[in-house]
Amino acid sequence: MELFGVRHVAVIMDGNGRWAGERGEARTRGHRAGVDSVREVVTECARADLPWLSLYALSTENYRSRPWTEVRYLMVLLKRFLVDERPTLMENNVRLTSVGRIAELPAKVVAELRRTEALTANNNGMTLVLALNYGGRGEISDAARRIADDVVAGLVESSSIDEAMLGKYLYDPAMPDVDLLIRTAGELRVSNFLLWQISYAEIFSTPLCWPDFRKPQIEEALRAFALRRRKFGGLLAKETT
Ligand code: FPP
Repeated sequence: MELFGVRHVAVIMDGNGRWAGERGEARTRGHRAGVDSVREVVTECARADLPWLSLYALSTENYRSRPWTEVRYLMVLLKRFLVDERPTLMENNVRLTSVGRIAELPAKVVAELRRTEALTANNNGMTLVLALNYGGRGEISDAARRIADDVVAGLVESSSIDEAMLGKYLYDPAMPDVDLLIRTAGELRVSNFLLWQISYAEIFSTPLCWPDFRKPQIEEALRAFALRRRKFGGLLAKETT
């Protein structure tokens, strides 16, 4: 699989429920099939030496607004994933990390998450970021609050606040900007995902639901990225004359 210079892929994994509905199955069946896609995409990206892959596994809005039975099922799947995938993560040299308001998740999920993060902490291949109980506005407002605390404590000057400095207060200051944002199930929204980091991301939307998004589809998204002309607000060389 060729990366075409992509360093960070972020995925909004949408359509598990629709995938199941189309088959006359319960939504939970769609989430279970979604885990198979997660496994395949993570493994293929790690083998291709992608540096960063971020997956939107649960938004703050999902966590607060979905029926508790569905959220509880997602928590069971997540906990199982965090335990069962440890050998595969180790084998593929993947470091697993997380972003979001993790402390609000059930204690057993947090415990398995921390164990998997600790186990994989020294892996130096791909970093897999799970966004859990995550919201982009929440991340930026959490950063603003921590900066305000440091200003009040006399640790930083308000005049030193700029983009680089704010970036250091985000959930993971080492996370690079997103190059390619993928969204499945045909939607054309960013849904509060990594708002700071996607500023110049190229967006790839596919009508396929997440359980149908596998190796050929991630390859297609990377090929589509390779055809984009990224200008970062500037001009291409040939446009300057
Ligand atoms: C969107 O489908 C998907 C989610 C809200 C959860 C994503 C979770 C997984 C892929 C499985 C668990 C993740 C890990 C990392 C083990 P939807 O339910 O919004 O689908 P719909 O829009 O068709 O209803």
